[in-house]
Amino acid sequence: MLLAIETSCDETALALFDLKRFLGGELLRAEIVSSQVALHEPFGGVVPELAAREHLENLPFLIKKIFQDVPGAEEELSAVAVTRGPGLNGCLLVGLSYAKAFAYARGIPLLALNHLEAHLFAAELEENLRELNLPALTLLVSGGHTELVLIEEFRKYRLVARTRDDAVGEAFDKSATLLGLPYPGGPALAECAKAGRPGELTFPQGMKSEPTAFSFSGVKTAVSREVTRLGASLEDDQVRADVARAVEQALVKALVSKTAKALKKCAPKTLALSGGVAANAVLREELAALAKKSRVEFRVAERRWCTDNAAMLAVLAARIIEREPKRYLDWRGKAGDLGPDARTGTGALPRWPIEKIGTAP
Ligand code: KG4
Ligand code: ZN
Repeated sequence: MLLAIETSCDETALALFDLKRFLGGELLRAEIVSSQVALHEPFGGVVPELAAREHLENLPFLIKKIFQDVPGAEEELSAVAVTRGPGLNGCLLVGLSYAKAFAYARGIPLLALNHLEAHLFAAELEENLRELNLPALTLLVSGGHTELVLIEEFRKYRLVARTRDDAVGEAFDKSATLLGLPYPGGPALAECAKAGRPGELTFPQGMKSEPTAFSFSGVKTAVSREVTRLGASLEDDQVRADVARAVEQALVKALVSKTAKALKKCAPKTLALSGGVAANAVLREELAALAKKSRVEFRVAERRWCTDNAAMLAVLAARIIEREPKRYLDWRGKAGDLGPDARTGTGALPRWPIEKIGTAP
């Protein structure tokens, strides 16, 4: 059994995987995602210190609960996986310290892994854990990251494009706030946009001709200007829906057109979509259509596994263990050690870019 712990932002998430059954396919035995949305809602965004304290309060209770859900699992536990970064430092520290102590007290190995890498593996949770056909081009879109990553081989990543300013999730969230929509903004804006009429408005696409960079801060500024221009008429639901739709169109278009260019350049076998914004229905549809047109396989996880969760971390850990079981499962460290791959120190890594995985961060 493998226990995965994810606390990088505002979800306290756990998953229990059955490593013995891994090759047989059925693997996920239990899963908990405890969202802090209600806690942060009055502030209109995640408050890092509150989030960290909430993880600390939740973790012991949720771990107890997940073992109650799967009788016998606790006795059979053979490894712990935890998110080491990137994310909010205080939040990461809570999960990491907990996992270190938990693994050491039981004398079992620990795998301290990268959150972005885990997002990439969410795409394998679909289709009964079928591995991605490599090379795969992945569009990784979340509240903190927007990048196109080429997975050349297992755990070998090449950065193709990255945002120069805001992440696309941030652009969704901030535009939603400007439009007076409820927290969390991304899903609220997508919901509101459904009633929007096409072609009423257009917003700019940042860095249109630059293949290696995204830019989303211009959309936010343009939305802010539009909101001022519209004034009181924004209270009309139809007007607001039209703006929301135009924002969603602009953001999705920027992502899809850059992905199309990267597909031509990289010629991968698979196109995958991951990260919280991958829950967006319009983006899923348009990227699936692009993959079809480009004759590459398209992979994306169910929506619940696109936003933060621990099941994706468990798949990553299981794949690592599967390749070198002795190296990982026989590893025994001292108190506070971070597992066989921890080359640099024992702390959390709030900044840990994906292309640095496997080398010193
Ligand atoms: O991966 P994630 O859960 O957390 C991070 O690691 O950042 O991503 C959260 C982001 C937020 O910006 C949220 O607004 C956005 O994903 N998001 C969406 C949708 N669902 C979540 N954005 C657009 N449409 C959605 N349906
Ligand atoms: Zn995430």
